[in-house]
Amino acid sequence: MKIPPVKGTRDFYPAEMAVRNYIIDGWKKVSIRNGFEEFDSPILEHLQMYTQKSGAEIVEQLFSFKDRGDRDLALIPEMTPSLARMVNQKINSLPKPIKWFSVPRLFRAERPQKGRLREFFQWNIDIIGTDSIAADAEIIFTTLDYLQYAGLSENDVVVKVSSRKLLAAFLKSLSIAENDLPGMYAMLDKKPKMPADTFAAVLNEKLSDKDRASKILAFMETDSLEKIKKSLGVNQKIDDAINELLEHHRLLNEMGVGRFYKFDPGIVRGLAYYTGIVFEVHAVGGELRAICGGGRYDNLLKDFGGPDIPAVGMGFGDCVLEILLREKGLLDKHIKKPELDYFVVSDKSFEENIFFDLVAKLRRNGFITDFSYKTDNLSKQLKTASEKNAKKCIIISKEYSDSKQIIVKDMATGEQQTIPIDKFMDGLINSK
Ligand code: HAM
Repeated sequence: MKIPPVKGTRDFYPAEMAVRNYIIDGWKKVSIRNGFEEFDSPILEHLQMYTQKSGAEIVEQLFSFKDRGDRDLALIPEMTPSLARMVNQKINSLPKPIKWFSVPRLFRAERPQKGRLREFFQWNIDIIGTDSIAADAEIIFTTLDYLQYAGLSENDVVVKVSSRKLLAAFLKSLSIAENDLPGMYAMLDKKPKMPADTFAAVLNEKLSDKDRASKILAFMETDSLEKIKKSLGVNQKIDDAINELLEHHRLLNEMGVGRFYKFDPGIVRGLAYYTGIVFEVHAVGGELRAICGGGRYDNLLKDFGGPDIPAVGMGFGDCVLEILLREKGLLDKHIKKPELDYFVVSDKSFEENIFFDLVAKLRRNGFITDFSYKTDNLSKQLKTASEKNAKKCIIISKEYSDSKQIIVKDMATGEQQTIPIDKFMDGLINSK
């Protein structure tokens, strides 16, 4: 019986692995040039980590189990709780602000669909230990730095920005209680995933009040901060949240990426721990799910038993990105076909020790080198060499040269050179 792969997971054959490596190498390169340091966590955490603060949606999607010691564990569905746990553990010895990145393999038991799987890779960048709005802007700047590095422009992607502070102040102005806010966020975050009528009906039912429901709908559809300011009237908390958003936008303009910015109060984010400015990057005009998302989460470290330390960050999966890069023709040209520096060809006329000695020396000197296990047919071996994209072939055969010489063939020009083995070896060592 053939056993299929597990639903929502992917097999990475070498061709898919090359794409994954291209994406992850870019994330790492951009993180480093923006001043982030890499960290990693275990793939297992205590289940309680997510039931405590991540919110109902993530909890419903957990792959969890009991270990032999009857402990409830989960495969990690996101990195932020692990980051908070790790930082709390060493809080006094870590210089702040902390700027860390990671690329974990995550697991969520979602319904597999375009851009959403059950196992995926997620780039995380986080800044912990500062409440400066410049850190909020820098997270978006770094995200956009990657998207531009990958070849995308403001014609392809848009950063939709909103604020949990603004939403909280607005919902409270409608007499929605503080305790009910997490449930409201989780529901409002589902708006783009439902037809408009269904969402309106769900909202009406939750609030059992048509007036408040229609005010919330109108708020979520307002397209500028000025309009929000006008429609909501005087309220200190709302004013503060708006001023923070304006300052954030100003900083992004100064950083030269303001053209990607769009204020969108429909962005709520599904996770429960966000406390300030939140954002998602979407493909322009597309039907795809969010490319990435993040925001400020000032209470998570404290909620996990640590000190009161502010934090901001974002998570960026590989699935939607790959679809988008492919759609825009930005992937294939970056995926290099595997290449060999040398393919060593030989027949039975030569002593094996010379052949393997040469292969070993080439490899030890850093040249990507391969050979065929079948040495009976020279022309077949040369064919394999060109299939494997070898730049040069070395032919060792008494039929074509004496026992102290080899032939070096340039596979692009077909040019051949007969060289004494010793001279070739000396040249090899000197070339490094
Ligand atoms: P999130 O919105 O749950 O946030 O996920 C962020 C991104 O991860 C999504 O926009 C998407 O690119 C990717 N993603 C999520 N679920 C899946 C899935 N099932 N399949 C493929 N890709 C997926 C978080 O995870 C936060 N912890 C991000 C964060 C870091 N906030 C602050 N720091």
